[in-house]
Amino acid sequence: MGGRKPFIAGNWKMFKTVGEAVRTAKELSDRVSDAPDVDIMIAPNFTALAAVHDALGESTVMLGGQNLFWESEGAFTGETSPVMLRDAGCRYVIIGHSERRQYFGETDETVRKKVKAALENGLAPILCVGETENERETKKTFSVLDKQIQNGLKDLLSDELGPLVIAYEPVWAIGTGKTASREQAQEVHRFLRSVIETMFGNELANAIRIQYGGSVKPNNIKALMEMPDVDGALVGGASLDAEIFSRILHFQH
Ligand code: PGA
Repeated sequence: MGGRKPFIAGNWKMFKTVGEAVRTAKELSDRVSDAPDVDIMIAPNFTALAAVHDALGESTVMLGGQNLFWESEGAFTGETSPVMLRDAGCRYVIIGHSERRQYFGETDETVRKKVKAALENGLAPILCVGETENERETKKTFSVLDKQIQNGLKDLLSDELGPLVIAYEPVWAIGTGKTASREQAQEVHRFLRSVIETMFGNELANAIRIQYGGSVKPNNIKALMEMPDVDGALVGGASLDAEIFSRILHFQH
């Protein structure tokens, strides 16, 4: 782990009413009151952010948005700005999730603008990258990831990227029950760290936390976390239930 604190985040996607989100967040907060040695974040739907923030109070569970727009305010119907996310209590924001790339036309260029806007507004971006099944089968994994990182972080400076987190989420493993083997995850994480090193130098490359995402469950988290370049996880389905997510967060116990 190279001294990097584990960071496990739950992406609640388009699930849960405000009431359900508040109940799950409170239960989760109670279940981690023994303070496992891991940074914890949940990303509820926008409609639930403020209520979940209130419900969490002094809890160590942090809050994140699932997306943002790069302007601070303006006539952009349906969008949410970094300023608004901060105001609702977010410290993190997920950017470029494969579902956004696939269904909502996000590109490396929009991802770059969003990463920049997040950083400028004091939000730590979780930049998601990952290859499709076809890209893996045709041996394009590394070139695809290289392009996503190079273009997603183009023109940014190493000094401003301190808060950045990267999430490696192979598209074929998201919500499918198929997990990358821990060796596959490690191989890619090491590669991603080397891309960061080439672009921004050794210091950032060593410090940056790289999460794995894609069908992370209580029964596979420990093995993944044992790999030297896997610093955490971005969890979808298994983060929706406080008891199950808490088991993932207690992987060291
Ligand atoms: P999953 O989702 O854990 O349900 O596979 C992961 C993600 O999309 O972040």
